[in-house]
Amino acid sequence: MRYIDHGPGGAASAMKIAIAPQPAPKAGEVVIEVAYAGVNRPDVLQRSGGYPPPPGASPVLGLEVAGRIATVAPDVARWKPGDVVCALTPGGGYAEYCAAPAAHCLPVPKGLTVKEAASLPENWFTVYDNVMTRGRLKAGETILVHGGSSGIGLAAIQLAKVLAGATVYTTVGNAEKAEYCRKMGADVALNYREQDWAAETARLTNKRGVDVVLDMVAGDYVMKNVRALALEGRLVQIAVLNGSKIADFDAMPLMLKRLTYTGSTLRPRTVEQKAAIAAALAREVWPLFESGQLKPYLYRTFPLAEAPAAHALMESSTHIGKIVLEVKPQ
Ligand SMILES: NC(=O)c1ccc[n+]([C@@H]2O[C@H](COP(=O)([O-])OP(=O)(O)OC[C@H]3O[C@@H](n4cnc5c(N)ncnc54)[C@H](OP(=O)(O)O)[C@@H]3O)[C@@H](O)[C@H]2O)c1
Repeated sequence: MRYIDHGPGGAASAMKIAIAPQPAPKAGEVVIEVAYAGVNRPDVLQRSGGYPPPPGASPVLGLEVAGRIATVAPDVARWKPGDVVCALTPGGGYAEYCAAPAAHCLPVPKGLTVKEAASLPENWFTVYDNVMTRGRLKAGETILVHGGSSGIGLAAIQLAKVLAGATVYTTVGNAEKAEYCRKMGADVALNYREQDWAAETARLTNKRGVDVVLDMVAGDYVMKNVRALALEGRLVQIAVLNGSKIADFDAMPLMLKRLTYTGSTLRPRTVEQKAAIAAALAREVWPLFESGQLKPYLYRTFPLAEAPAAHALMESSTHIGKIVLEVKPQ
């Protein structure tokens, strides 16, 4: 099969088409003939050498795919060859065939294309777990989502609004991104290059603060996030784009406001934990795509061989929403 090899890692240009044997399904797994593979920021980190795959995972890039099931392990009853699915993968998505646990596959929501479905798993697994489970967001509460125009951000805005029934504030880097986030359900979108988001959040909540912050920035955002939280607020860290070290951290507000500071990364979670998230998505989130209340947000598609251009676009941060690789449309 054709796949993208990124060698020892480095610049986007390190990625080249190469040939390897097709994977075979291990117990509990299916092998998917990949039509489309989603591109995610963690792929960029892995390609540049900063985010090695967990032990046992495919070294090939690609955390989500959609396509037709080619083969299933003898113990898999849920799916059969020919079924069209999207899947969270343990890696290996930038390839014509990709193995994934059967329990991490979901049907293509009715009304969505296979390409749109390929853009869902990594964002929606991550956001469901961090906003609903870790962040414990409830109806009537307020959430601040940083990086609103990212794949993760647009899932968080919609999930918070539609599933949780929350008020949603978000931060973005330009006016076009702000407008898109409002269109996708954000009540307020703040341009952090022109506005002081911390001051604006305090003003918007009459100094009460927000109940949940979903943050991918860290660094100097952490103390600002802590100050932006209301009593009993939850700060959920899902990435550290501005660095993981926090200068001048003050633990006093954690105690005085009884805050929770938590976070997670999806990839090293167990097969069972990810299967539980898949089941929650099938039950609570996929029906909202089928009724049109949640919407996919594809930005651009590149052929597999143009993976370097897809990564360069992501690294430019000019995109809004998802970038997808076309592997072998069926
Ligand atoms: N914890 C997990 O399990 C998990 C899973 C998946 C992804 N993630 C993380 O979630 C984040 C979003 O992922 P994604 O795939 O949705 O990414 P993406 O679509 O590439 O979006 C990233 C966006 O973040 C914004 N941003 C804000 N501060 C930034 C900074 N200091 N450096 C770079 N970009 C910055 C940029 O938009 P602006 O113009 O608004 O700045 C950029 O477009 C990534 O950091 C990723 O590693 C975490």
